[in-house]
Amino acid sequence: MAKILIATEKPFAPAAVDGIKDIAQKANFEVVLLEKYDSKDQLLSAVADVDAMIIRSDKVTKEVIEAGKNLKIVVRAGAGYDNVDLESATANNVVVMNTPGQNSNAVAELAIGMMVFLARGGFNGKAGSELKGKTIGIHAYGNVGKYVAKIAKGFDMKVCAYDPFANKGAVEKDGVKFIDSAEELYRTCQYVSLHIPANDKTKKSIGYDLLKSMPKNGVLVNTARKEVIDEEGLVKAMEERNDLHYISDIAPDNKDVFAGKFDGRFFFTPKKMGAQTSEANINAGIAAVKQIINFINDGDTTFQVNK
Ligand code: 3PG
Repeated sequence: MAKILIATEKPFAPAAVDGIKDIAQKANFEVVLLEKYDSKDQLLSAVADVDAMIIRSDKVTKEVIEAGKNLKIVVRAGAGYDNVDLESATANNVVVMNTPGQNSNAVAELAIGMMVFLARGGFNGKAGSELKGKTIGIHAYGNVGKYVAKIAKGFDMKVCAYDPFANKGAVEKDGVKFIDSAEELYRTCQYVSLHIPANDKTKKSIGYDLLKSMPKNGVLVNTARKEVIDEEGLVKAMEERNDLHYISDIAPDNKDVFAGKFDGRFFFTPKKMGAQTSEANINAGIAAVKQIINFINDGDTTFQVNK
């Protein structure tokens, strides 16, 4: 009987785990659960005899891949797979997949929720501002970006998007203004919501020049990855302009600087919360187990990211 390890330092909702187990058992797969683990050794020993692995932001390093002597597939239940060493996976004949789109609405709702929270001064009792009529720029018009655009339109915001890989016609069909460059997006949109992946090209790519150019009361909303921000550049821009704000789903490495200097101009979730809803956990978890079964039984490599 093939064995699937669910290795989630940040656990799925119980209903998602039940759903995964149910589908696996019906297909004659065994499920092993490793939740809230706090040492690499626990992960290394759990992966030792499994055929497949479902993870979230859990770090699947060369060491983890090599410890999985029977490992054939890792599915990242979510979108970003920057936490998986793809090179080592490929070298060890391990297929890596993600589950695109399955948790996107949850992340988009959090992006908008953080914007409302900031606009209302963290519910401090003082007069805040509304999102209606403000301009939002979506940086990368993928699954999450599209949901953010849709919700923002419900707030009567003016929605723009920049994405070098998106089709202009398709963006405009959604009633979203297509912008040609990142520079123009940041220069013209009071809110910018980031949805770019973290990779060699994007890491530290959002910095001083883009942020300094934002309109009055600019707000950078980051539900993507902290690694895409040039933190020194961000701090410099916020020091020079006391109307700039940064809200992020997970704190930057230099969060103490923000606490000391930018009172009321930032908000960071204590733990990455974007995809942390029952619905997103169920969607992504069920998609992951189905992808594993289809791969092991039928060789289906749809959603493989290390081709
Ligand atoms: C993703 O890439 O899918 C999101 O960042 C969610 O990550 P999480 O599963 O660790 O919450």
